[in-house]
Amino acid sequence: MSETGFEVLEGARVRLRVVDDPAVAHRAVAAEIARLIERRQSRGDQAVLGLATGSTMVPLHGELVRLRREEGLSFGRVVTFNLDEYRGLAGDHPQSFRAVMQRMLFDHVDLPPEQIGFLDGTVDGPELEGHCADYERRIRSEGGLDLQLLGLGTNGHIAFNEPGSEGNGRTRRVQLAAATRTANARDFEDPEAVPTAALTMGLGTILEAKRLRLLAFGPSKAEAVGRLIETAAPEPDFPASFLPGHPDLEVWVDRAALGSS
Ligand code: GLP
Repeated sequence: MSETGFEVLEGARVRLRVVDDPAVAHRAVAAEIARLIERRQSRGDQAVLGLATGSTMVPLHGELVRLRREEGLSFGRVVTFNLDEYRGLAGDHPQSFRAVMQRMLFDHVDLPPEQIGFLDGTVDGPELEGHCADYERRIRSEGGLDLQLLGLGTNGHIAFNEPGSEGNGRTRRVQLAAATRTANARDFEDPEAVPTAALTMGLGTILEAKRLRLLAFGPSKAEAVGRLIETAAPEPDFPASFLPGHPDLEVWVDRAALGSS
């Protein structure tokens, strides 16, 4: 183990930062976000963060809340955009990603509500295309995503870009894969209540972020991480394989996610 708390593992097209304890990664990425926010703030500029839900992100958001409470980090000049939202769930539905983010982060930091960007899962019909195009426009008009957080689906999905997604895809409505609905059933009392569709930023949208920080921990991610290490070229049936083409990608994994705990 190096002094930085991680070891480096080189894959075919990707370099991984391997930690014994995911908390090391959560702290390192949260500290990077804090530095980004503070550097921008000192110049009178804003930082644009791409946020993600999922159990992987819970402690990272907890660390951001700690930095706010104990170290005075301010989110007053931060603009956020979340990756995705379940279709059919309003923002005040307890299982919507909007409500999850509210409980996990937004309620505990000084981020002005009008600076929170979120896809609306209830928009439907002819307005849907405009809503998605608008989200893209809003991201661009804020200057683009400075840093995008990413989790990894057990089937290699990124946000809700399921197998079959193209690397240049934009924000749109998608159908959820059976594996994703099964994995996410833990958040719902009735597994049948897991929505069958979602709105998601596309891989093209995500790849335009200036920095990408992917985190994957635990044995359930070992198969997807193994494939990410070995993948020699982008393949639509494994969406995470498009990420290694990005110039500033960091992938944080623990030993369990490498299948070697
Ligand atoms: C969800 C989200 C993804 C997330 C992934 C992993 O379906 N849409 O953005 O990265 O699943 O979730 P977890 O961190 O709970 O394993």
